[in-house]
Amino acid sequence: MSIIESPDTITLIRPDDWHVHLRDGSHMAAVLPHTARQFARAIVMPNLKPPVTTAADASAYRDRILTALPAGMRFEPLMTLYLTDNTDPDEIRRAQETGFIHAVKLYPAGATTNSAAGVTDLRKCYKALEVMQELDMPLLVHGEVTDGDIDLFDREAVFIERVMRPLRRDFPELKIVFEHITTRDAAQYVAEAEGPIAATITAHHLLYNRNEIFKGGINPHYYCLPVLKREEHRLALLTAATSGDERFFLGTDSAPHAVHAKESACGCAGCYTALHAMELYATAFEQAGALDKLEAFASLNGPAFYGLPVNEGTVTLKREAWTIPPSVTMGEHQLVPLDAGNQLNWKML
Ligand code: DOR
Ligand code: ZN
Repeated sequence: MSIIESPDTITLIRPDDWHVHLRDGSHMAAVLPHTARQFARAIVMPNLKPPVTTAADASAYRDRILTALPAGMRFEPLMTLYLTDNTDPDEIRRAQETGFIHAVKLYPAGATTNSAAGVTDLRKCYKALEVMQELDMPLLVHGEVTDGDIDLFDREAVFIERVMRPLRRDFPELKIVFEHITTRDAAQYVAEAEGPIAATITAHHLLYNRNEIFKGGINPHYYCLPVLKREEHRLALLTAATSGDERFFLGTDSAPHAVHAKESACGCAGCYTALHAMELYATAFEQAGALDKLEAFASLNGPAFYGLPVNEGTVTLKREAWTIPPSVTMGEHQLVPLDAGNQLNWKML
């Protein structure tokens, strides 16, 4: 149980981030300490250029992360493989044998950043999925169809009907995480589904609806994929996250892009929240009057789904006003965090 010592202090078991983009090279070196300060472990997305498609790639990437970790910081990267039409089922076995690869990521081809090498037709992956089901290796799903004739705001709901239902019918024992859900449809689907399915929810989808992208002009730092939806969907996500239902857990989808790539005629998708993730989640949970449910969402439900131990140690959030910096340095670039320049009323000590 989380300890709410006073209305102004919350102490939680150390949380994990079940979906983060750490990138590589100088960008990774800059963002990694933010994630490592907030979280004990994180599921690290494999959408690098080129993507992390083999156990050997994931092993080398993990080494680079551990090398970049500042001395004295503790952090465990939980690695993933990027599923393609050609993923060899034996690669799944090799991944499982490493002990540090914890999941395989499905990007429908063309759905988002660096997804060109993603899956064009899931039936091409059935042999790999069979092995994953046998080994209990979770499939992490970017749940959006990419057909040009489907409205951008409907892509997640259509994905449920066209891809998720057939997938789960054919692989009823496959562990699936429906990632960064954004709609009432997805929250309901996961809450009502039978079998091993869960969902991650970002802080930005709990705090904002799609108006935020267009308030007073185009606000590229609120553009991510799946895109923010209507208020009714935000409220459904907040209800799911704060319900205590163990199928829902924390995944920031923190996705750093240099400022010039966001503030551009064709801006990249992604919100940067690793700097202040727990503070943002605490703000959302407080709005729902559910701070007592934050620990289950942030620290307990994820490890239970992945079959991993709960972390040792705690973190403390204090009610204290501070201003989110306008930008932080990322290698040779600047990075603008979500809500840059705004005030937060929780601070992680
Ligand atoms: O907004 C997003 N950014 N959504 C994704 O699915 C990918 C991510 C990124 O890698 O930038
Ligand atoms: Zn992501």
